Amino acid sequence: MQRVFVAGVGMTRIGRRSEPLPALMAEAARAALADAGLEEPDAIVIATMNPEEFVGDGNFASNVATHMGFSDVPAVRIETATSSGAAAFYMGFAQIAAGLRRTVLIVGGEKMTHLATPKVSEIIGRSIDPYERTYGATMPALAGLVTRALMTRQGVTAREISQVAVKNHAHGARNPLAHFRQAVRIEEVLESRMVADPLRLMHCCPISDGAAAVVLSADRAPVRVAGVGHGADTLAVRHRLELTSFAATRAAAREAYAMAGFGPERVDVAEVHDAFTPFELISLEDLGLIPPGKAGRATLDGETALDGRLPINPSGGLKARGHPLAATGVAQLVECVWQLRGSAEGRQVANASRALAHSIGGLATNNWVTLLEGA
Ligand code: COA
Repeated sequence: MQRVFVAGVGMTRIGRRSEPLPALMAEAARAALADAGLEEPDAIVIATMNPEEFVGDGNFASNVATHMGFSDVPAVRIETATSSGAAAFYMGFAQIAAGLRRTVLIVGGEKMTHLATPKVSEIIGRSIDPYERTYGATMPALAGLVTRALMTRQGVTAREISQVAVKNHAHGARNPLAHFRQAVRIEEVLESRMVADPLRLMHCCPISDGAAAVVLSADRAPVRVAGVGHGADTLAVRHRLELTSFAATRAAAREAYAMAGFGPERVDVAEVHDAFTPFELISLEDLGLIPPGKAGRATLDGETALDGRLPINPSGGLKARGHPLAATGVAQLVECVWQLRGSAEGRQVANASRALAHSIGGLATNNWVTLLEGA
């Protein structure tokens, strides 16, 4: 297997954006190509979760490639629901690792804020098991179910899941590209309006527009892809053996650590999928970054804050940086690269040499763990 390096990264400001989706994706892609000093990639991998429904256009790989003046560059689109960006990264990684290409541009993006929340919920909800949907399941509703189980079975408290939001908003306030840039107090989180019991507004990620891009290369660069893992689980949540841990994350982590040749104890910083704040607690334990049953306490104690033992989501995470679906998995990797290069101005984790990105697809059906290290 060829070694794979990150030659360049770029992303847009996340939030409410007026530009069309291909323009947002081109903005991120051009920034990554400029960062890599590359005029044209050998291949392009695009991630958008559902442009057909969100913006009314399909054949999106050709759409974005053509928009960028790359109509003659082979381009494909990859989709694994909300983890599509991480899946696209894997596809690019695999092409270089296999020796098929020397440079691949990966770009993920989504545009959602022009639609009303019920419509966005319906479109995101199509990634849920159809039978469960007939009972009215939406993504926040299923996340609420998981959170209720976490609280009653594992004793996780409302303060613990709320502190994740406090921490990630504090981080987002330091990130000029984040959707939300204001810090919040724990009382504001605990008193915010109910969305899907017991999840309140401030426990949920927002609906966001944005794009992120990475250029991977076979040529040596300061950051190397150390390991990539993919785990899967049943589409139907009712067929799961457990609700309070995601088997797809555990499988992805095992695979990524095995490929990298190091374990969670060597990770210095991580971007973790906190679409709903309790998911950060579940994932920290599934990834082996925090011992079972300890993630809530560790968060309250500040262990996962920017100045803590293991900073989690220095970008602000999905909660504060925002969650433009297919852009997210790539945006997490962009943040990891900035951290490893020492260029995450205002939120730099000291001496970071290994970073982990974790992305959840659907209700944890297609999860990815990617490990990067300073080369
Ligand atoms: N956190 C903090 N503030 C939020 C927010 C969030 N998640 N979502 C919206 N807001 C703020 C908005 O900025 C706005 O503030 P303003 O009045 O100062 O401008 C206000 O709340 C109202 O926003 P609105 O968009 O009308 O809220 P909403 O009730 O329609 O939507 C949610 C809120 C939580 C239901 C929606 O953001 C949501 O569905 N999030 C989850 C998306 C999702 O499932 N993604 C996939 C996960 S895998």
